[in-house]
Amino acid sequence: MTEPSTSPQPSSSLPASYLRTTSDAYDAVAVLYSDLFRDSLDSLPLDRAVLAAFAELARATDAGPVAELGCGPGHLTAHLRGLGLDVHGVDLSPVMIGLAREAYPDLRFEAGSMTALDLADGTLGGIVSWYSVIHVPPRELPPYFSEFRRVLRPGAAFLLGFFEAEDGPVAAFDHKVTTAYRWPIDDLAALARQAGFVEVGRMLREPLDGERYRRGHLLMRAR
Ligand SMILES: C[S@@+](CC[C@H](N)C(=O)[O-])C[C@H]1O[C@@H](n2cnc3c(N)ncnc32)[C@H](O)[C@@H]1O
Repeated sequence: MTEPSTSPQPSSSLPASYLRTTSDAYDAVAVLYSDLFRDSLDSLPLDRAVLAAFAELARATDAGPVAELGCGPGHLTAHLRGLGLDVHGVDLSPVMIGLAREAYPDLRFEAGSMTALDLADGTLGGIVSWYSVIHVPPRELPPYFSEFRRVLRPGAAFLLGFFEAEDGPVAAFDHKVTTAYRWPIDDLAALARQAGFVEVGRMLREPLDGERYRRGHLLMRAR
């Protein structure tokens, strides 16, 4: 496995050990991850469709800039920019952020945790979290949605991509980078509702060759 030549420490003292584990794990695989997934959307028409729906909603509300939280090497942030959004990326892994800045120098990327965003209340017009809360232990997830709701304006769009647990309940699995969790889509929708979101729609996609689990996508608005 190719590894980055440097592994800087996460930018802030992280409050929970799983965050440190996640950051270190993504630092270690960042180059490989970037090479594997840079062009992945090209062969995922349903994923592109749900991202296009998100972008249309965010543009229509014109509620302000959009953030991709847990942006990894930035290819999805760049895709959202291509859909006409004023978007920046945030990621816990400093190596991922370095790669994103190198690949997309015209876009803004910040190292940090989506648990404590450096943003005032109600400043964003949209958030995409694309497979970026998958490593959060289930009990720890509600504050993430509260933080997302805090920084969004009323009416702003929120798109969540995740691994679905079709038979429920929420379950840990051996994700290649570090432990991850599959969620029943209704449970995630309920958690988001409790944090102040209204569901706009949902999309489930069956696993493709080489994928293990069904993919879930929830499109929401901030109340
Ligand atoms: C599976 S990758 C997804 C990356 C990108 N969204 C994509 O679709 O390719 C998960 C990313 O979320 C980031 N991440 C996990 N927890 C985070 C947190 N609390 N704050 C910011 N980024 C986080 C990881 O560092 C990793 O880059």
